[in-house]
Amino acid sequence: MYRKTYARIDGKILEANAKEIIGKYNGFQYYIGVVKNNAYGHGMKVVQNLIKGGINYLAVSSLEEALQVRKYALETPILVLEPVDLEFIDDAINNRITLTIDSLDYIKNLHKIELPYELKIHLKLDTGMNRLGIKNSKEVKDAVKIIRKNDKLVLEGIYTHFATTGVQDFYYDRQLENFKNLTKEIDLSSIPMVHLDRSLTLVTHEKIAFATGVRLGISLFGFSGSRKKGSGIKATLRNIKRNLYLKKHHISSTYLENSLQLKTAFSLYSNVISIRKVEKGEIVGYNASYKVKEQGYIATIPVGYADGITKEFGFVTIRKKKYKIVADAMDMIMVLVDDTIKIKDKVEIFGDTISINEVKNRLNTNAQHLFTKITTRVPRVHVEGKEEIEIKY
Ligand SMILES: Cc1ncc(COP(=O)(O)O)c(C=O)c1O
Repeated sequence: MYRKTYARIDGKILEANAKEIIGKYNGFQYYIGVVKNNAYGHGMKVVQNLIKGGINYLAVSSLEEALQVRKYALETPILVLEPVDLEFIDDAINNRITLTIDSLDYIKNLHKIELPYELKIHLKLDTGMNRLGIKNSKEVKDAVKIIRKNDKLVLEGIYTHFATTGVQDFYYDRQLENFKNLTKEIDLSSIPMVHLDRSLTLVTHEKIAFATGVRLGISLFGFSGSRKKGSGIKATLRNIKRNLYLKKHHISSTYLENSLQLKTAFSLYSNVISIRKVEKGEIVGYNASYKVKEQGYIATIPVGYADGITKEFGFVTIRKKKYKIVADAMDMIMVLVDDTIKIKDKVEIFGDTISINEVKNRLNTNAQHLFTKITTRVPRVHVEGKEEIEIKY
């Protein structure tokens, strides 16, 4: 690594997260790790840790991502969550990739292809999100009929995706009801994998009785979604309001709090490459974005918006002290420091002293957006015990 800006990924933490979730929500047979977009920015190598932690299926967005995962997971089955163009069916079959069937037309066209080997497929139902999937029960029944006629097609799974967590609205309940209606004319029990929940619907609801699998994304990467009910007048009033709303709309009971002990595994570091003394009235950065208020020092750090970092991140830590980011550019940020800071000092953008939670709140975003903001220009250094492996993308 020449430029000392890198993400440090602690695989052991991810393994522990997987174990913790599977241990506490142990009523499923299939734990599908959703590792799209480079495993939520962590680097596909982490699938090995997730598998060690008990994840026994993986899911990604595209065939490209599935082939990246295959390099790290030779045996574990991989589901592509979006429809793959049938032009590329050979690449899917040759790499033992499971496909999503999201429409009746898709399965009709797939049925016309002479397949060399068996192909595992999952049927995606649209229960209300209006993104992907079959939306009416006759089409579900017809799709299953076509699949059953074809001895190369293995209907391994059926699934849907929840648009909301349902803790504050009735859409979760509606979607669950829609799933039951869409599947009432097929024999659900003959399909091994039935998976509906994602991380936050899993932890906020009773187990769906007929579900045999769950798709886990953000919880594996350290976010349990647990929310304290709080005490004091404000919190009490908020809870009364919420309970009245739930009652009025007959929303099934949900849990705000859970006991999952999860940790984030992603830290971002850089170093100081230049320091200059500045006087009151001088400007710093493009568009004179900062005007120096009193004599001080500016440290330049080689991480910028091309890496996903802007001055809105707020602060960095150097020598255990927090300093304010005052300007940004494509490749560098400038930080207001004092005379204790030296060239080559290590800089933490987030990790141990500045938590991901703190940064995501400051940016008014969620963890998924924050992780995927950090671009592939930043090498991921995978740490397991004492071993460190740098991966460039
Ligand atoms: C279809 C599907 N299932 C599961 C997930 C995982 O969701 P989460 O990260 O909330 O667990 C995603 C992520 O966006 C998804 O698109």
